[in-house]
Amino acid sequence: MREEFVDPQMRENDLDDHGIEAGLRPKSLDEFVGQRELKEHLGIVLEAARRRGQAADHLLLAGPPGLGKTTMASIVASEMNAHIHITSGPALERAGDLAAILTKLEPNDVLFIDEIHRLSRTVEEILYPAMEDFQIDIVVGKGPAASSIRLALPRFTLIGATTRTGMITGPLRDRFGLVARLDYYDDAELQLIVQRAATILGVDIDGQGASEIARRSRGTPRIANRLLRRVRDFAEVRGNGKVNQESARDALTVFGVDDLGLDKVDRAVLSAICTQFNGGPVGLSTLAISVSEQTETIEDVYEPFLIQQGLIARTPRGRVAMPSAWTHLGLTPPTQSPDLFS
Ligand SMILES: Nc1ncnc2c1ncn2[C@@H]1O[C@H](COP(=O)(O)OP(=O)(O)OP(=O)(O)O)[C@@H](O)[C@H]1O
Ligand SMILES: [Mg+2]
Repeated sequence: MREEFVDPQMRENDLDDHGIEAGLRPKSLDEFVGQRELKEHLGIVLEAARRRGQAADHLLLAGPPGLGKTTMASIVASEMNAHIHITSGPALERAGDLAAILTKLEPNDVLFIDEIHRLSRTVEEILYPAMEDFQIDIVVGKGPAASSIRLALPRFTLIGATTRTGMITGPLRDRFGLVARLDYYDDAELQLIVQRAATILGVDIDGQGASEIARRSRGTPRIANRLLRRVRDFAEVRGNGKVNQESARDALTVFGVDDLGLDKVDRAVLSAICTQFNGGPVGLSTLAISVSEQTETIEDVYEPFLIQQGLIARTPRGRVAMPSAWTHLGLTPPTQSPDLFS
């Protein structure tokens, strides 16, 4: 497989042991743990495309960071025996950037656009006819002398990834044949992921150790893999190198990951809403400033899991803390429950 355009804006957590993370990526649909429904749908779509000898339909993958969107895109490419070209919304500044990539595609290639919700309007408009009719219009010259030429493209598969379905425009969304949402993984699935990664990394781990890491991974494979590496480090330095429930628990406590898998920032968000803002409602930007994070990070990375766990809720007037947030912080919840809909 050839990966041509490596995203220059790689996230910080991608850089963490990046080489190792790449080695942990499942390479086929069978190796990919969880997301049963998506795997079933994709299995059918890809098999049908293979039988027709055609590129598969365009695919939009949505969901919080670290759930396997990039992994799934490269699996689609390898299942289709196709080349994958990787770029991202912010990297495509001008229409010409996208046109250059599109005109280099070969039949049945996969084009992966990460953070597709951050494409500019003009670039997005080039994408519409490319997705629908496999052609693009290129403008040559300037002013009154400008004219446009139409170029035919080979049939290709576009895979878009986004952490924000709400920010994808209707016309773009409608042009995808399959729109899939990746959900948080359950503990049993994460345990399989931890065990698989431990085998690849040669870590000596037992079932209870893997289950302890799984339980504290915020439903996220990337976090599970990262915690496994930290627990391994801890077991090597402070113990005999073996990972069991006890060493996993001790290690995660040292690294500030609590019982629910919340880290320092998660807890800072909870404690800001509970104590600083009396349980809310508090606006997203105020909240972000008070924990010194960007609003985008709070919204994409931290908030979805806290909401999924029922610790906070989103209301029209801002974020509010639920009683379990107080309890989790060791505080007593106020007797009056938050007014969710005012
Ligand atoms: N279903 C899975 N089974 C096993 N490992 C997985 C699975 N999904 C993800 N992973 C692991 O988690 C890591 C992160 O996945 P990936 O980079 O695909 O997430 P992502 O959704 O693209 O995140 P981002 O939105 O931050 O780009 C991968 O390196 C891979 O090892
Ligand atoms: Mg990714």
